[in-house]
Formats: sequence, structure tokens, C-alpha cells
Amino acid sequence: MDDFEFRNPTKILFGRGAEAKVGVETAAIAKKILLHFGGGSIKASGLFDRVVASLREAGVEFVELGGVKPNPRLALVHEGVKLCKRHKLGLILAVGGGSVIDSAKAIAMGAVIEGDVWDFYLGKGQPKAALPVGTVLTIPAAGSEASTGTVITKEEGWLKRSVNTELIYPRFSILNPELAFTLPPFQVACGATDIMSHLMERYFTNVKNVSFTDRLLEATMKTIIAKAPQVMKNRHDYDAWSEFMWAGTIAHNNLLNTGRIGDWGSHDIEHEISGIYDVAHGAGLAVVFPAWMKFVHSHDLDRFVQWAVRVWNVELDVFNREAVVKEGIARMEAFFRSLGLGTTMAGLGIKDDRVDEMATKCTDGDTRSVGNFVRLDRAAVKRVLELAY
Ligand code: NZQ
Ligand code: ZN
Repeated sequence: MDDFEFRNPTKILFGRGAEAKVGVETAAIAKKILLHFGGGSIKASGLFDRVVASLREAGVEFVELGGVKPNPRLALVHEGVKLCKRHKLGLILAVGGGSVIDSAKAIAMGAVIEGDVWDFYLGKGQPKAALPVGTVLTIPAAGSEASTGTVITKEEGWLKRSVNTELIYPRFSILNPELAFTLPPFQVACGATDIMSHLMERYFTNVKNVSFTDRLLEATMKTIIAKAPQVMKNRHDYDAWSEFMWAGTIAHNNLLNTGRIGDWGSHDIEHEISGIYDVAHGAGLAVVFPAWMKFVHSHDLDRFVQWAVRVWNVELDVFNREAVVKEGIARMEAFFRSLGLGTTMAGLGIKDDRVDEMATKCTDGDTRSVGNFVRLDRAAVKRVLELAY
């Protein structure tokens, strides 16, 4: 196991009706805030009104900025930054999913600098400060509610890039599983796939003697595999949603990668697909992950055998380990398909071939590799994408 430092300061308020506490939690940090949200689901569900009532009761003033799109855009981030500066706002409250939270985190970094926050996404300089962010989560998926990450898309060139810094750990996140009851099946499927992917990115590591975190990762994967069909069948199954939602947060709050180094190549490749084609991140991962596994599994067949046997209950055959792994990958693909997702580019609705362009963008013109378990240069990324077609 590697040495590590671990700290996750995000306060989690979990349970039925937990959004009623948003006013008090916010008021303890700031009295004038930006209320940030997406395209309207929170208004349709009544959540917006409940959040506003709680803020008013706690004496918190707010400026509204809605309209965050899935694969959140830089232009709206710039608008948020201006509002924070003009009104001297002290916190950004994100009410929504990963896209709203990521947009809020970008605004939080942009509001305290003179230059353009996009520079951080291009790796030009490191953020030194950020406004506090709080969240009310409406979809278990991206894990942004307790993560160090933010992923933003710049419209010119459709470049989707991320920043990771502890400065943007949300100060608090409110998780009420009831808020997921209104999710359409497609978003449930994308959420399950994204959570599975966060676990698998961490699982496939070259670090040895990590059996404890292996087991935690396997347990969390098995929870999603068990709970996703239950919430698909009954969107009002509070108990199943509770486990699904908490698993989603734990999958990405950095606890499960303590002492190990994750891969993240599939995420980097997927960000090119959702950047260019504007598809849902989870749907893109259902296509990339099987292709990536087919390309890299021989790098550490034993680890893939362990995953197939423990996570997908494939029978161990020590004389035919390759077949065990292939069956594990096939069961994972069947799971994604059972949720209604495609596992090929055609299944994702993508017919044209921009493999060259995506491989070039992903590796910055072959100047960097992606992934840690197996380092992928431009030619390797291209091969993974070809396997996805
Ligand atoms: O905009 P509204 O109307 O709210 O609708 C949203 C949106 O259309 C809808 N939705 C959310 N909660 C709902 C709901 N509809 C009905 N009822 C509810 N309770 O769902 C749609 C998708 O929302 P979005 O926020 O885009 O989903 P998700 O949480 O999957 O976030 C995806 C984004 O997160 C990034 C992805 O790249 C993508 O841009 N990621 C962020 C990470 C991080 N910051 O740590 C890590 C992830 O790997 C990921 O890359
Ligand atoms: Zn993800």
C-alpha cells in the first residue's frame, strides 16, 4: 500500500426532508449567496420552493442563477463569477446534480481571481482560494457532492476539462434519497454507470497489498449492482435509494483510493466523447469502459480475474483465466444494457467517426498519456475508441 494523506471535510446531512436544514447550514457560513441550479427539474419537483423557504427563514439573501446544462458550460460559469463579484456573494449553493455542482465549484474559484478561471482547467496555474460551496444533491451519480473535482466544457472547440483541488470540497452536502424519486430511468442508468466507473477506475491499480480497499470497492460495486434494478423498478423505494445514494458519495469522496493509485484513462477518454457529442457522461462510460477493459486486461490478468469472480460471480477456472475475465466483462456489459444503456458508439447514437480527433484532443496531440494502470498514448487511445465502435 502507498503512503497517503486523507481528509474529506464535507459535512453530510443525510435523510428524509434533509433539505429543510439548508438555510441554517448556509447561514452559518454566509448571509448573501448565489443560488445555482439546472434546467427546471427542481422547480417541477417543488424542491426549489422548499430551499428558498429554508433560506428565507434563516435570513439568507440570494441571487439566482439557473440554466446549468448537463456537461456544464464555461459561459454560464463566467456569468456566475460576475454575479458573485457584483453582489459580493459569500457562498455558492448548488441545488442539482454533478453539472450544477461542478459549475458552482468553477464559479467559486473564478470569483476570487482577476483572470479567467478556465486557465486552471488548462493547467495554467493552481487555484489558491475559492468561495465556499454547499450542495443539495438531486441525483446520485458524479460524486461531486464530496469530491475535489469539477469538470467544465468550453463551447469554443468543445473542450471538456477538469480541475482537482481540496479547495472546492463542498462545505456541506445535503443528501435526501427522496429527491431521486423524480429521476427519469435514463438518468438513473447513467448515475449507476458513473458510480460503477468511479469504483472501477480505483480498482484497477498497480499498487500491491491493497486487499482492504479492494474489498471496500467490491462491496460498493455489488451494492450498485443490487440496488440499481430495485430503484429502476420502483422509483419510490426509499431504502434502495438510500444505499444507492450513499454508495455514490463514498465511491468518489477519495476514501476508497487511500493507499492506491487509480487509473482514470476511461474518464479522460469519455470526457472527449461527452465534450464533442454532448452525451451524458454515464452513457459515455458504458461504452468506453468495456472497450478499455478489452484493451488492457492482459496487463494484470489476475486482478481482472479477481474482479470477475468477486464482483460478477464468475466461476473461477484457473486453467482458463482469460475466459473468466471475458465473462466478467460480458456480465458488466449486460448489466449496463439491462439499465437501458448501449455499450457501443452506435448504441450511444454516434454514427460518424471522429476517433482521430478525439484521440488527439485526449492526449493533447500525443504530448501526454492518459491512465495509470496502463499508460495510453494517442495510438492506444485511438485503439480503445475503435474497440468502442
Ligand atoms: O437540469 P435539470 O432540470 O435539473 O435536469 C437534470 C439533468 O438534465 C436531471 N436531474 C437531476 N436531478 C434530477 C433530474 N431530473 C429529475 N429529477 C431529479 N431529481 O438530470 C440531468 C443530468 O444532470 P447532471 O447534473 O448533468 O448529472 P450528473 O450528476 O451525472 O453530472 C454529470 C456531470 O458531472 C461530471 C460529468 O463529466 C458531467 O459533466 N463529473 C463530475 C465529477 C466530479 N466533479 O467529481 C466526476 C465525474 O466523473 C464526472 O466527470
Ligand atoms: Zn464519472
